[in-house]
Amino acid sequence: MRIVLLGPPGAGKGTQAQIIAGELGVPAISTGDIFRANVSGQTDLGLKAKVYMDAGDLVPDEITVAMVKDRLAEPDSKAGYLLDGFPRTIAQGEQLRGSLEQLGQRLDRVVELVVEEEELVRRLSGRRMLVGGEWVQRDDDKPETVRRRLEVYREQTAPLSGFYEREGLLSRIDAIGTIEEVTARVMTALGQPGRSDDS
Ligand code: AP5
Ligand code: MG
Repeated sequence: MRIVLLGPPGAGKGTQAQIIAGELGVPAISTGDIFRANVSGQTDLGLKAKVYMDAGDLVPDEITVAMVKDRLAEPDSKAGYLLDGFPRTIAQGEQLRGSLEQLGQRLDRVVELVVEEEELVRRLSGRRMLVGGEWVQRDDDKPETVRRRLEVYREQTAPLSGFYEREGLLSRIDAIGTIEEVTARVMTALGQPGRSDDS
């Protein structure tokens, strides 16, 4: 299956992507994680991306699209994938559609995780990551950067919801509740009800 997880910062994309990709046996591909790995590794890509990420802005489309094309060309993406954080602009959505068309493929479903802003801010301000044995805040989870990320989402990413709705691919999911409850709703939207209850 080829799936896109759409949703604002803090909606639970990364959390759900790991669980659902595991259930479906496809790789979870997070552009944010790939950028962060490049920032830690101080690669050229990481140095370029860091400036935008630290400001809460999007990395330019040409950099992001080239990176995703490379990732989707890896052998593990052949049988499908779950994209977390891509596409994030209409231009990225069009590029993805074009690449898929060239391969005679299409997306199976786009799942939008819906959470109101107050809860997003609460989740992001409480998030900590384990780095080198220490719990630290993600660089872009500072309150002023979170505000900017939410603004960027509203302006540049939210229009993708209508873009995929017009293609008949969109499922909007209430992403408030326990992680397990949200997983069950997503699995149902993917036509796999009950799958996440197996374990
Ligand atoms: P990215 O890493 O994609 O960040 P984001 O979209 O802002 O979203 P987050 O990762 O912060 O949130 P999430 O939805 O994954 O939620 P999570 O599961 O962690 O992007 C970072 C930056 O990279 C961008 O700003 C941009 O600069 C760049 N970038 C990335 N992709 C790009 C692209 N395509 N184009 C251009 N630039 C790009 O959950 C959040 C918290 O909530 C966690 O603590 C979690 O434990 C908790 N939580 C999860 N589910 C629940 C629940 N049900 N109830 C309560 N708490 C929950
Ligand atoms: Mg994430």
